[in-house]
Amino acid sequence: MHKKIYWLPLVTVLAVTTFVITMQNAYAIDLDEATMTVPLDQSGQTTTLTPEQVKRGKRLFNNTCSQCHNGGITKTNPNIGLDPEGLSLATPPRDNIEALIDYMKNPTSYDGAEEIAELHPSIKSAEIFPKMDHR
Ligand code: HEC
Repeated sequence: MHKKIYWLPLVTVLAVTTFVITMQNAYAIDLDEATMTVPLDQSGQTTTLTPEQVKRGKRLFNNTCSQCHNGGITKTNPNIGLDPEGLSLATPPRDNIEALIDYMKNPTSYDGAEEIAELHPSIKSAEIFPKMDHR
């Protein structure tokens, strides 16, 4: 049980920052409150991040994700970007924090039909993607 809890803050921040970064169209992040308020779940609830969360998440994103998602684009599959609209049209929609956390645990194809943990970094596939192992 305990094991699970360790990575949760990390993943939350990672997921959250993915969103903020893509909303901001890459690097020029203006850290006002409106920018740091992001959708929490599908019901439309929101949460406001702290500057520390954004800073930490940005660092983690740059270390772990940007090799493939530099600036929110997806290198090996440019049809699937991390922009809010693209995320909203995935199955299930990935344009909120809960759905992004879920993706970090169990990534699926854009149409939701396949689990792709062996191809995409995730907690589940941390043996293949050691950066995802933060115990
Ligand atoms: C090895 C390259 C690679 C790395 C590293 C990587 N991704 Fe991805 N990511 C992809 C590819 C390719 C896809 C498209 C998968 C598909 O075909 O559905 C994708 C898709 C996604 C999606 C789904 C987008 C959508 O609209 O459905 C999210 C969210 C995502 N990545 C977040 C992340 C995060 C956060 C990280 C860092 C922890 C990360 N990715 C690291 C290659 C990568």
